[in-house]
Amino acid sequence: MKPGMKIVDVGCGTGDFTRYLANLIPGKCEIIGVDIRATNISTAQKQTKKEGLSGKITFRKGDAYDIPVEDRWADLVCCRTLLMHLTEPLKAVKDMSRVARKGGTVAAFERGRFESFYFYVPNDKRITKLGIKLGGLYVDGVRKLEGKYFDIGNRLPTIFHEAGLREIMAEVQADTYLTSDPRRKLEDVKDELGFNLETFKETKKLDAKAMASGGASRKQIEEYNRWYERWTKSLLDDHQKLRNDTVFSTGGMVLVAGRKQE
Ligand SMILES: C[S@@+](CC[C@H](N)C(=O)[O-])C[C@H]1O[C@@H](n2cnc3c(N)ncnc32)[C@H](O)[C@@H]1O
Repeated sequence: MKPGMKIVDVGCGTGDFTRYLANLIPGKCEIIGVDIRATNISTAQKQTKKEGLSGKITFRKGDAYDIPVEDRWADLVCCRTLLMHLTEPLKAVKDMSRVARKGGTVAAFERGRFESFYFYVPNDKRITKLGIKLGGLYVDGVRKLEGKYFDIGNRLPTIFHEAGLREIMAEVQADTYLTSDPRRKLEDVKDELGFNLETFKETKKLDAKAMASGGASRKQIEEYNRWYERWTKSLLDDHQKLRNDTVFSTGGMVLVAGRKQE
C-alpha cells in the first residue's frame, strides 16, 4: 500500500474494509467503494465522513458483474467476503480484472474450507466429528440451494487463473476461538458468546435447511444444536467454567492476489 494508489473495493458494504485500506496509506490515495445496495452506500458515506476519510474515499452504487469504474483505472481492485455470496464469482473476478491497470493487482479475502482443523471438543469425539461434518454439509447445502460457494477461498487461485490473472499468491489466515485464552477480556468473550447465541437462534431454521440439503439428518442437526446451545449457555452462566474451557475452533479465510498481465 503506497501513497497515491488508486483502489477499488468491490462489495464494500458499509465500508469497514474500505476505511481500513484508507488508513493503511499515509498521505493521499483514491479509493472507490462499490456496493449493490443503496442503503449500504449511504451508511458507508456517513461513517466515512465521520471518520474524516471523505477526501480519500468515494462510494458508488453498482454491480460486481459490471463495476461502475473505467477500464484499467486501478492499481488494486479488491473485495472482502463478496465472492462467497455470488453465483458467478468468475464473472465478477473478470470484471475486477478489467478495472485493474496492466501490472495492477486483483485481490480477494474470502472464507475457505478447512474441515479437519476447525473444531475440537475435549472428551467428546462424537460431537467433534459431528460439528466438523455438519460444517461441511452446511457449505454443500448452501451451494445446492443458492448456487453459492461459501468455501470459495480454496477455489480462488483457480478462478483467478481462469480470469487471466497470473503471479497468483495465496495465504491462509485463521482466527481461533478459545474462551479461556487469557489475552482476551472476559467481557469481550462474553459479548461474543452472547452474540453467537442470538445469531444461532435467529438462523437456526435456515442453517438446518442448508445442512439438510447438504445431506445431514434431522437427528444429527438436533444433537449438535442441543450441544451447542447447552455449551454456550453453561459458559455464559459460569465464568469459572468459561475461563477453563478448552473447546477449540477456527474460522479460516483465504487471501488470494493475482497480477493483471502487461
Ligand atoms: C458480507 S458483505 C461484505 C462487506 C464488506 N466487503 C466487508 O467486508 O465489510 C457482502 C457485500 O456484498 C454486497 N453484494 C452482494 N452482491 C453484490 C453484487 N452483485 N455487486 C456488488 N455488491 C454486492 C452486499 O450488498 C454486501 O454489502
